[in-house]
Amino acid sequence: MSLELTAPAQDAPAVADDGVWLECIECGEQFAPFEDIRYTCDDCDGLLEVRYDEPATWDDFEGRGVWRYNAALPFEAGVSLPEGDTPLHEVPRLEADVGVETLRIKHEGMNPTGSFKDRGMTVGVRVAKELGVDRLACASTGNTSAALAAYGARGGMETLVLLPAGNVAAGKIAQASLHDARILEVDGNFDSCLDIVQELADMGEVYLLNSLNPFRLEGQKTIGLEILEAFFDDYDTYPDRIVLPVGNAGNTSALYKAFRELVQSGSLDAEDVPKLTGVQAEGAAPMVEAVENGWDDTRRWDEVETKATAIRIGNPVNAPKALPGIRETGGTAVAVSDEEITDAQRDLAAEGVGVEPASAASVAGLRKLRREGVVGDDERVVCLTTGHLLKDPDAAFEAGDDPEPVANDIDAVLDLLSE
Ligand code: F0G
Repeated sequence: MSLELTAPAQDAPAVADDGVWLECIECGEQFAPFEDIRYTCDDCDGLLEVRYDEPATWDDFEGRGVWRYNAALPFEAGVSLPEGDTPLHEVPRLEADVGVETLRIKHEGMNPTGSFKDRGMTVGVRVAKELGVDRLACASTGNTSAALAAYGARGGMETLVLLPAGNVAAGKIAQASLHDARILEVDGNFDSCLDIVQELADMGEVYLLNSLNPFRLEGQKTIGLEILEAFFDDYDTYPDRIVLPVGNAGNTSALYKAFRELVQSGSLDAEDVPKLTGVQAEGAAPMVEAVENGWDDTRRWDEVETKATAIRIGNPVNAPKALPGIRETGGTAVAVSDEEITDAQRDLAAEGVGVEPASAASVAGLRKLRREGVVGDDERVVCLTTGHLLKDPDAAFEAGDDPEPVANDIDAVLDLLSE
């Protein structure tokens, strides 16, 4: 199978452009990367992956942010705000409470628009320029739309976003709106928005920048590269496990691809690859179902529900790329309740790390796996927090304490403080 952790790099085929090509993960058909617009295989409709004849080594990286890793990307530079270079927070109290050897939080909420999506968009919008398209589009639970709107604006391009009406957090719509995306609120869930926008893309109306677009995942690989480099700097070793929230499974696929390419270039031993561990909300957990049943793809959930609206997704399009990653790295997937997500959001906040609900799912999942004994107390773990607290102010108010009204008077304030 083409997605094995230890599969060697291939020679560039005739269709390659400067050592870069697209390849179908199902049938192996190869395509020129920038000649025509395609998101899936012409022959079998399988997912496409960007391939390189010379995968990058650690020595190839210099500079900061996403484009530090341009040797692992199809371009030298892109439409940038700039993005990446996010903190790997220490959380000593939470680490002791969860009971693992090491716990670090990779806070992707610190990207320019407040989520990891910026890493994919800086590459995706660069590719859009290469292809000469002028209207960019996505379906979104919110963060992709905010990133697309900002990077589209930066690149001087028109943007269209389809959102599930009533299920997108306020901060995200505000971003898309101010960055001047055309916003259509669809009477349906995220998966139906993606069905529509995929059809628009197939009709040539728009250039699709959902994670079905293989170039976006190239940018998101840099999360994994940053984690490994920063962790190694601090501990002289790599993390045993990376725990991340899962929606469309784009990040899971991207991290797996980053690690496979490092193994191909001889930069990382296969046994040092962290166990990829996905977390979903109980009400939207098709990946957990697939992992538990040993399936190669997910079954579409038509009804989904969770307070973590960012991952309110029933049909994870990248499952065929992500499931081998979870399996081959020895990872797993787990579902958590909305209540566990809110508790984890409070735990992170108590360490000064402000995240939106979907992000806190990673920590909630780690806690659950510790309780169940799946994760040992000797493990070194990185949890990914994917979006900033301010993305979803309503959820933050709900999880936090209410403001107390007080008279405009020092005695009234002192009275309250002494209560
Ligand atoms: N966390 C946050 C905050 C997200 O916004 C998303 C996805 C995920 C996790 C899941 O990541 O899809 O790579 O597994 N948000 C998409 C959006 C769907 O439209 O913003 P994934």
